[in-house]
Amino acid sequence: MLSDILEVFRENPTTVLGWTLLGGLLLQVGLLVSGGVRRMRADAKRSRLEAERLSLEIRAARLKVQAAEQARIAWNGIRKFTVAQKVPECADTFSFYLKPHDGKPLPPFKPGQYLTFQVTPPGAAKAITRCYSLSDCARSSHYRVTIKRCPPPPDTSHPPGVCSSYFCDKVEAGDILDVKAPSGHFFLDLEKDRPVVLISGGVGVTPMISMANALVETGSTREIWFFFGARNSREHVFKDAVEALAARHANVRPQICYSKPAPGDVKGRDYHHEGRVTADLLKELLPSTNYDYFLCGPGPFMESITEGLRAWGVPDSRVHFEAFGPASVKRAAKSEKKEAVASVPVAGLEVTFAKSGSKAIWTGEHGSLLEFAEEQGVRIEAGCRAGNCGSCLVAIKSGEVEHLSDAGADVEAESCLACVCKPKGRLEIDA
Ligand SMILES: Cc1cc2nc3c(=O)[nH]c(=O)nc-3n(C[C@H](O)[C@H](O)[C@H](O)COP(=O)(O)OP(=O)(O)OC[C@H]3O[C@@H](n4cnc5c(N)ncnc54)[C@H](O)[C@@H]3O)c2cc1C
Ligand code: FES
Repeated sequence: MLSDILEVFRENPTTVLGWTLLGGLLLQVGLLVSGGVRRMRADAKRSRLEAERLSLEIRAARLKVQAAEQARIAWNGIRKFTVAQKVPECADTFSFYLKPHDGKPLPPFKPGQYLTFQVTPPGAAKAITRCYSLSDCARSSHYRVTIKRCPPPPDTSHPPGVCSSYFCDKVEAGDILDVKAPSGHFFLDLEKDRPVVLISGGVGVTPMISMANALVETGSTREIWFFFGARNSREHVFKDAVEALAARHANVRPQICYSKPAPGDVKGRDYHHEGRVTADLLKELLPSTNYDYFLCGPGPFMESITEGLRAWGVPDSRVHFEAFGPASVKRAAKSEKKEAVASVPVAGLEVTFAKSGSKAIWTGEHGSLLEFAEEQGVRIEAGCRAGNCGSCLVAIKSGEVEHLSDAGADVEAESCLACVCKPKGRLEIDA
């Protein structure tokens, strides 16, 4: 047909018929080409979607294999680890690279989980248990934790933290440590696709680095907002590591806040905002609320951000947090308060701390018996603060407690794990 039309055009080059036929021909060719381009575009889009679907399936399969591997080679109780390397990160903060002393494979873990250590610092009467978040994603050769010396509370003459000082001052490459397997419920689900906002202050950055590394190493293209607050560059943990991540991966968006920049700290080079990480800053920078939020830092910092996120309309189910120390988030406890007060007469909520000779009224605002005791100045040994390590086991002299969540550690009769229980009525404990 094409040759017929060209033939007619050759015979009638200047007639209306010739030009009409040629125009029709060009129109047809154009339609064919544009149809082809559309089909090619549609095919390319289909192939891209198919490739994305396949890559998600591969990622999900890899994670399932990892989880099975974690379950298969996890260990019970204590395992010996050798400190392969001790690396100073910034002021009073060190990373420890740990290799299994038995040389056997290391189970993977979920980003955000922690290791539990049992150490006996020189001069300590007994072993103490402390937890430290894994500060890198799972690697087959080693684990890494990053530990900051815990300073005394302001305006007190108490000594600095026992375990963190021991790690900073005494533990060196070649030392052998007693370690329990990775655990913890604060972790990022790598199978999900929702973008994430990682928010941390100070050494609370450790689980966030693990999450960010795990996301980029598994090829995730989820948006990763990385909000971090420190006083200044002296306390800016993992500065180079986060800058390198952002330089290599366009989906990593660091937002660094210095509350008291040091002389020589340059805005735009070392940090982005002067001041603290606040919910207002999140609202200003995030294009929507549609993220999963992970928080770790000092209690008041987490409390103000969780309150701000809630006021902004972020559902509680999207906000996940880890408390390293006493003042954890009291968000959930506020609603418990009403229940506790309604179901138990206030006079029945008197708690007696037998050893320290003090009494206080439980009002339900403190979350757990451990936090309540800490608020009264009563010291109870604590490690994981999540019912797993058994360090907060305390004897009940009279009364009953209610467990807030399942305890992973064994609970002896007539005792309770203070971090995961609350009084059921009048209570006397041996603390
Ligand atoms: C899940 C989890 C993960 C964690 N991850 C990390 C991490 O990645 N990196 C990290 O650095 N930390 C982390 N921590 C915190 C860590 O476990 C320890 O709590 C921290 O190192 C302090 O322990 P310590 O033995 O040094 O301090 P402690 O000896 O327990 O002292 C704690 C505080 O009490 C003060 N104190 C001492 N004596 C008294 C007294 N008589 N009365 C009142 N106060 C006193 C100390 O000065 C100090 O401020 C994590 C905690 C948890 C629960
Ligand atoms: S602190 Fe670990 S079980 Fe309570």
